[in-house]
Amino acid sequence: MSKRYGILANPAKHSLSPVVQNAAFKALGIDAQFGIFEVPENEFSTFMDRVKHDPIYGLSVSSPYKRDVMEYLNEIDEDAKKIGAVNTVVYKGGYLYGYNVDYIGINKALAESCGDLKGKRVVIVGAGGAARAAVYGLLKDGAQVSIYNRTTETARELANIFSAMFGVNIVSGGLSDMLNVEADILVQTTSIWIDDPDAKLEELLPPDYLKKFEVVMDIVYKPLITPLIEAAKSLGIKTVTGDKMFLYQAVEQFKLWTEKEAPVDAMRAALDEVLV
Ligand code: ATR
Repeated sequence: MSKRYGILANPAKHSLSPVVQNAAFKALGIDAQFGIFEVPENEFSTFMDRVKHDPIYGLSVSSPYKRDVMEYLNEIDEDAKKIGAVNTVVYKGGYLYGYNVDYIGINKALAESCGDLKGKRVVIVGAGGAARAAVYGLLKDGAQVSIYNRTTETARELANIFSAMFGVNIVSGGLSDMLNVEADILVQTTSIWIDDPDAKLEELLPPDYLKKFEVVMDIVYKPLITPLIEAAKSLGIKTVTGDKMFLYQAVEQFKLWTEKEAPVDAMRAALDEVLV
């Protein structure tokens, strides 16, 4: 019987993980199926108890379960512990292991456009779960990070956590404070366009503000060309779209599940076919 894997989220139906992971299994001739586990919150605990018994060999974990899943795992790796969230679960030898490879996806996608991230000044917009992975990864690679959020207090909390963890100073504030900062890279991590595809860029920042950046990244990949990416492009600034982060974190997940090198080209091709 083929091994089961899947995306655990709610909602999960629109996830692109099955497309890229099934393409990877196919490319390497692995007998496995990557499905969708759209689990309502009141069934989450029962679902997690079952994962080991009727084994699901790998889970990609997304909203709203990246934190809640942690209490069901036998071991959590250092990076995931420090980020405070798990996006990948591996079942092996009767145990469940948790990892977070979102930060690797962000770093690789950015490094493709900017090269070495060491010393780069990066503005992070947002202070939710995705921002935590971004801040962690960027600090780990030696970038200088500042954090701005609609709710100033949440940005301050995140800055305090990571400044203590890495022993560095992290400037933080509300969205308007961001406008006075000089930096090289801007990374958009909020859920603004996931919650409302018609939301205007001006809710986050004035489009002209983007002029000061070398590179602008949005981690959202639906839509692929977000209002932020569109504005940056029209100003002639290098952009990094969210599909790159998604692809590179999917590659890391595949490696963790199969202990094989991932067929990146096949995964990229499958993703390109469905992206709009
Ligand atoms: P995720 O796991 O996707 O990061 P989250 O933890 O719920 O989701 O965080 C959502 C982030 O998007 C938060 O930083 C949120 O700002 P608040 O802390 O002020 O809520 C931000 N966000 C969501 N909608 C936004 C909007 N319309 N304008 C600005 N920021 C927004």
